[in-house]
Amino acid sequence: MTATPATDHIQIFDTTLRDGEQTPGVSFSFDERIKIAKQLEKWGVDIIEAGFPASSTGSFESVKAIAETLTNTAVCGLARCVKKDIDAVYEATKPAAMPRIHVFVATSPIHLESKLKMTQEEVLASIKEHVAYAREYFDVVQFSPEDATRTELPFLIECVQTAVDAGASVINIPDTVGFAYPSEYGAIFKKLREEIRTDREIVYSAHCHDDLGLAVANSMAAIENGANRIEGTINGIGERAGNTALEEVALGLHVRQDHYGTTTRIQLQETKQTSDLISRYAGIRVPKNKAIVGQNAFSHESGIHQDGVLKNPETYEIMTPQLVGVQSTELPLGKLSGKHAFSENLSALGYDIDPEEQKVLFKQFKSVADKKKSVTDRDIHALIQGTEHEQNAMFQVSQLQVQFVSNGLQSAVVVIKDRDGHTYQDSSIGTGSIVAVYNAVDRIFNEETELLDYTIDSVTEGTDSQAEVRVQLKVNGYTVTGIGIDHDVLFASAKAYVEAHAKYASEQAQKEGVEA
Ligand code: KIV
Ligand code: ZN
Repeated sequence: MTATPATDHIQIFDTTLRDGEQTPGVSFSFDERIKIAKQLEKWGVDIIEAGFPASSTGSFESVKAIAETLTNTAVCGLARCVKKDIDAVYEATKPAAMPRIHVFVATSPIHLESKLKMTQEEVLASIKEHVAYAREYFDVVQFSPEDATRTELPFLIECVQTAVDAGASVINIPDTVGFAYPSEYGAIFKKLREEIRTDREIVYSAHCHDDLGLAVANSMAAIENGANRIEGTINGIGERAGNTALEEVALGLHVRQDHYGTTTRIQLQETKQTSDLISRYAGIRVPKNKAIVGQNAFSHESGIHQDGVLKNPETYEIMTPQLVGVQSTELPLGKLSGKHAFSENLSALGYDIDPEEQKVLFKQFKSVADKKKSVTDRDIHALIQGTEHEQNAMFQVSQLQVQFVSNGLQSAVVVIKDRDGHTYQDSSIGTGSIVAVYNAVDRIFNEETELLDYTIDSVTEGTDSQAEVRVQLKVNGYTVTGIGIDHDVLFASAKAYVEAHAKYASEQAQKEGVEA
């Protein structure tokens, strides 16, 4: 069977900065949000849901800054069926080349009775009033009946018809709690296309959550039944089990174009870069076996598979790693490699780095090469990520000394420097080396801090690998993440912890700037 989509172009709506940021423990800084938005534009998404402007000053300001920055992508803000939410989206997205609004209200019996305490009649009246109000400010209004998949179909159709009559031209069907299965979800789109009466062109959009691991399958079923927009996030981050992983949808549509018969505007070769950026800023490592962007997605372990791939890659590869931007140099570097080989290697890995920055990186590469037999592609990626982090950070670890005291106690002295070169030093003891280091850092920053999560991984195989430490902290009730990469586990741990503190400090500075 070949699917018969409503159009030959599927719009990609990215909500990494809104629903994705609802991932427990994830909070992007202002600068990170701008960088993510720019990378999403480069990746080729049609619409970016940049935030929920009425929810906080930070969200409002970052939606506005993204609206001022992007030129080729529609910028959307989320609003409840509340006039002040709609006003906030209007103000925040005003500078955008293509401003958009996404208005929602819950429609399922459980949400009406337990959460909103509204009758169906009241919900219909609210949809009519608020979609019409949004339409006064926006050419394109998107409406979502939250928890659509647990809403009785006749009432869902009534809600959608009301929204369309009030001027909505995009109807999004959220599977808010990830409850639907593919044929059931697909059938909703078929029914809406048959039942909704209008002489305007309506975009039908799918928005799925992954509670049962069906978000991508449900989104693909929606396309088979007339959806022409897919909403989701990079790496599938989001509330609870997350959202539809957009990179999987994009590649699914590309590789199985024979079936879906549609295209997207996605620049597939930017996929890996986009995924890496989100993983880094969200502080969430992509699982090794994750489709498309996981480290193992293009590795072949069994002898039979390796033999097949050597004879013809297509025996076990339905797409090439290069298609999604997984570059491989096959040219391992070592301590004798010079500037030229290093520079060639960077280009082969898809990096376009100016000569001044290459000089800094080359020094760092030499220090890695002194400690490692061969420097692999993954070391180079880690090096670039680490350097970018350090260059952007407000504070960096400058020196670290750890000593065994007695009875399992360790002492640590930490020196930190800020962007202007000022140094701060303190010392502490702890029941282990990392605790001692973190206590010393806490004394420097003097904020109420709780370590929520600490993970350590090796960048490559082998005992000479660099360590990658990720931490999640609560600083004065605000969650921040940090990453540190270094040959020395303690140094990597200190870097991660200081980076998280630096992010908190930078967010505070940003807020003060906004309020001033
Ligand atoms: O999952 C959901 O219902 C949402 C709505 C706000 C569209 O994210
Ligand atoms: Zn959602």
